[in-house]
Amino acid sequence: MGVARLDEVRAAFLEDLGQAGKDASAVEAVRVKYAGRRSGLLLDLTAALRDLPKEERRDYGRALNDLKQDIGKCLDEAREASISGAAAPQDMVDISLPGMALTRGAEHPVNLVRRKIEEIFLRMGYDVEAGPEIEDDWHNFEALNIPSDHPARDDHDTFYVTGDRLLRTHTSPVQARVMENRKPPIRIIVPGKVYRRDSDLRHSPMFHQIEGLLVDEGISFGNLKATLETFLHALFSGHGVDVRFRPSYFPFTEPSAEVDITCIFCGGSGCAVCSRSGWIEILGSGMVDPRVFERVGIDSERYTGFAFGLGLDRVAMLMYGIPDLRQLFSGDQRLTRQFA
Ligand code: PHE
Repeated sequence: MGVARLDEVRAAFLEDLGQAGKDASAVEAVRVKYAGRRSGLLLDLTAALRDLPKEERRDYGRALNDLKQDIGKCLDEAREASISGAAAPQDMVDISLPGMALTRGAEHPVNLVRRKIEEIFLRMGYDVEAGPEIEDDWHNFEALNIPSDHPARDDHDTFYVTGDRLLRTHTSPVQARVMENRKPPIRIIVPGKVYRRDSDLRHSPMFHQIEGLLVDEGISFGNLKATLETFLHALFSGHGVDVRFRPSYFPFTEPSAEVDITCIFCGGSGCAVCSRSGWIEILGSGMVDPRVFERVGIDSERYTGFAFGLGLDRVAMLMYGIPDLRQLFSGDQRLTRQFA
C-alpha cells in the first residue's frame, strides 16, 4: 500500500486505455474498472487512506487526487475520440456504392403545346384567363345560346354533378363569365380541362381545349381570318401549312367556320393520318352571335367579336406523332421521358 501502489494503478490504467483505443465500449469498460461509482479501483484506493499511518496520509492523499484527475481527463479524451470516431462519415457511408441517379423531369406534351399557343397570343396582346371546371348550366349552355331543348346539347355528352351543376364540356363558359364582368375591348385566351362522356383512340373523358375571344368595335370576319392564319402559321411554322375555312355551325357564333390545315405528314397529298383528304381539321370558330352578347349584357349594336376553340391534345398528337390520345393521360414515363 501507499504511493507506490498508486503508481502501479496509473501504469495499469494507461495500458488498459491504450488497448481500448477508439472502441467506445472498451473505453467504457476501462472507466467502469477504474472510476466506476460502485466498484471502481479508485474507490478502493480512497478507502485505503483510512488504514494508512498518519504521517503517510498527506502525501498519499495528494498523489491520489492527482491520479483521480488524470484518470478523469484521460477518460474524457478517450471517450470523445471514440464518439467522434464512430460518427465520422467514412465509417457511415460506403463510398464504393453506386450513386443515386437524379432523373431529369420532363414537361408534358400537352403543356408544351399550351405554352406555345399562349406565347403566340400573348405576343398579339391577349390575356390568359381561367374559369371553374364545375360549371352551372347558365354559363356552359344558356348564356352561349344553347337552351335546354337545343339539339347541340346532344353533341356534349355531359357529366352532371347535380341538377344544375356539371363538368364543363368546353372552355367557352369562361367567355361568358369574362363578358359578364368586363367591358370591351376584350382580348383573351382560355386554356383548360374539359369533360365529356367519351373514350376511344381519339377521345378521353377529360381533355384540354384552348379558347379565344376578341370583342371590340368594328371587328369583322376578316380580323378572325387574319388572326387564325397568323396563329396557325406560327404554331406549325416548321411545316409551311396552308389554311382553309369551311362553313360550319355553332349555336354561339354566326357565321361559323371550321378551320383546316394541310396535313403536316403528307403535305396535302393524302395519307392515313388525314384520311386521304390532305387536310386536318384543327379548330372551330365564328363571329360571336349577337344573342350571346345580349345574354351577357354587351351592346350588340355597338360591338362585334370573334371566338375560336381548339383541342390541345389533338395538336400534341399531331405535333409529336402520338397515335392514341389516351397515352397522354396514362402516366407512362416511356412517353413523357422523351420530352426531357
Ligand atoms: N366550344 C366549341 C367546342 O367545344 C369550340 C368553339 C369555340 C367553336 C369557340 C367556336 C367558337 O366544340
